Amino acid sequence: MTDSSSSETLANLSTEERRFEPPADLAAEANVTADAYDDAAKDRLAFWAEQADRLSWTQKWDTVLDDSNPPFFKWFTGGRLNASYNCVDRHVEAGRGDKVAFHWVGEPVEDKRDITYAELKDEVCRAANALTDLGVQAGDRVAIYMPMIPEAIVAMLACARIGAPHTVVFGGFSADALASRIDDCQAKVVITSDGGYRRGAPSALKPAVDEARTKTDLVEKVLVVRRTGQDVEWDDDTDVWWHDVVDTASTEHTPEGFDAEHPLYVMYTSGSTGKPKGILHTTGGYLTGASYTHHAVFDLKPETDVYWCTADIGWVTGHSYIVYGPLANGVTQVLYEGTPDSPERGRWWQIIEQYGVTIFYTAPTAIRSFMKQGSEVPDRSDMSSLRILGSVGEPINPEAYVWYRHVIGGDRTPVVDTWWQTETGAIMISPLPGVTAGKPGSAMKAIPGIDADVVDDKGASVPNGSGGYLVVTSPWPSMLRTLWGDDDRYVDTYWKMFKDLGYYFAGDGAKKDADGDIWVLGRVDDVMNVSGHRLSTTEIESALVSHPKVAEAAVVGAKDEDTGQAVCAFVILREEAGDGGEDIVQELRQHVRKEIGPIATPRQVMIVPELPKTRSGKIMRRLLRDVAEHREVGDVTTLADGSVMDLISKGMSSGK
Ligand code: WT7
Repeated sequence: MTDSSSSETLANLSTEERRFEPPADLAAEANVTADAYDDAAKDRLAFWAEQADRLSWTQKWDTVLDDSNPPFFKWFTGGRLNASYNCVDRHVEAGRGDKVAFHWVGEPVEDKRDITYAELKDEVCRAANALTDLGVQAGDRVAIYMPMIPEAIVAMLACARIGAPHTVVFGGFSADALASRIDDCQAKVVITSDGGYRRGAPSALKPAVDEARTKTDLVEKVLVVRRTGQDVEWDDDTDVWWHDVVDTASTEHTPEGFDAEHPLYVMYTSGSTGKPKGILHTTGGYLTGASYTHHAVFDLKPETDVYWCTADIGWVTGHSYIVYGPLANGVTQVLYEGTPDSPERGRWWQIIEQYGVTIFYTAPTAIRSFMKQGSEVPDRSDMSSLRILGSVGEPINPEAYVWYRHVIGGDRTPVVDTWWQTETGAIMISPLPGVTAGKPGSAMKAIPGIDADVVDDKGASVPNGSGGYLVVTSPWPSMLRTLWGDDDRYVDTYWKMFKDLGYYFAGDGAKKDADGDIWVLGRVDDVMNVSGHRLSTTEIESALVSHPKVAEAAVVGAKDEDTGQAVCAFVILREEAGDGGEDIVQELRQHVRKEIGPIATPRQVMIVPELPKTRSGKIMRRLLRDVAEHREVGDVTTLADGSVMDLISKGMSSGK
């Protein structure tokens, strides 16, 4: 089950001896202590009810967990609340309106803005009124395709405020990807901007929305923020400027309490088939999970902390740990628009120094790229304000963990390696910074209130020292409720594997060490993880096959020093395409980029005469991964035609 990309983790697991105890002062003041594990285990539902009480409800729930129709679980049924009220208004009402919600930092230096909770409330109310005027009602879906500017967060909260589920599409996705998501959840309004700044230059977004509208006719209105001032095409029937309708709207808006199970958002993510899955999150349980985990895992002290999560709001991390968790908890955040190295390599560290960031949450791929540049650049900034560092998105290799702790955290800061997924809505497995002695490379164990295990293919818990499948064994508040419009696929994907036991199958392989701590090894399905982003092999294969010169394609994720995994494509050309021409490799890379987006661009495209298939026609990706990772090709006995690998390997060595 484990492939080569996990072999390093496995090797580390047997040799990794380093332990990092929580700093004594942090442990003494920690929000959550070791008792929380036992308390939660004694009465899980009471524990979660207590966490739900962190929120303001317009009506209290009747039942904590309704498990009468598994795996369609409901949490806090009968309860009503408004997510936007919880993230904004209640802090203003409590007299904290002057507190900065966001230190927004634009990519162009000196382009920055502080937004207080009171200002955020006014802006969200204006946007909610404007959306209502545009015809958006509770239950309608709104797509958001924006750069990292405050309006993106305002847009999400305005949707939440009026009960219109949002679907945020990452600004790096193509027009096609945007159109298919709009289509799938039938969004009637799109909120976008003319563009955003990427690596020092304006990068357009609106044209992709225009192009998406040629592929779907569902969109009634496009609300456009002016960010860069670049020229945009304008359709008077559809397009509306944000500054025309939002800036002029009233700041008065009464939030309605919605049912705890009212849909809050749909977030698309890659699955093992070509079609992205629309993960549905609802209101009460999700907000409880996001708020509690943010409080517990980051030991958040809203009065004094300055928190910065570098994720984009186009991913679930941005949803749970920029928007819903931190705002529900009323902390001051940094929100940064651009790339880490623009205009220079030290940009992130300068921002940490400038704003006195205390909690910093980023991805291993970023840490590895800084590590490569050495400690000289970060050493130029004073980052002594930092007290906790977080990691998410993929396994963090021990060397990157130790470097992060040492160079960025000055050896003072615990590193919380947080395992979770778009589907889980919130952190599930992680050290607690005031409790856990961290091990570099291990996400340690399920946080209080969460039941997770590593099991064999029958669902039996594996003994310490063994590997298996990572499962969640009891429902949890922030779990996905279904896949948008596809209950069957929801059941099949997550609940079929361990049907009789009722375990949620996460799609990851993991191992328990001698202490029973969990080391996540990576995906066991046809999903790749490139720079912490989930990509489906099948989706990229479909994109390749849609090119007129391509007959067949197989994609694998091969180990990559920088990005964790990299996309490697093996392509058979159509006969009439001949050798495809000199630029065929570039042409195909560009094609994938256009069809899906830059993050899906294959690192390598290899033109091959055949693909290795079993007698039943299934592509043996394991063998292709051997080739892509320059290894001796493994067992070929189940191949329909054993000579195929020779042909492919020969093609490789001849430099193709
Ligand atoms: C997949 C989920 C959760 C937000 C970001 C990604 C991998 C995530 C870790 C970690 C090892 C991790 C898993 C998981 N993953 N965090 N700390 N250690 N692997 O969300 O796009 O839904 O991807 O990311 O493979 O299944 P996502």
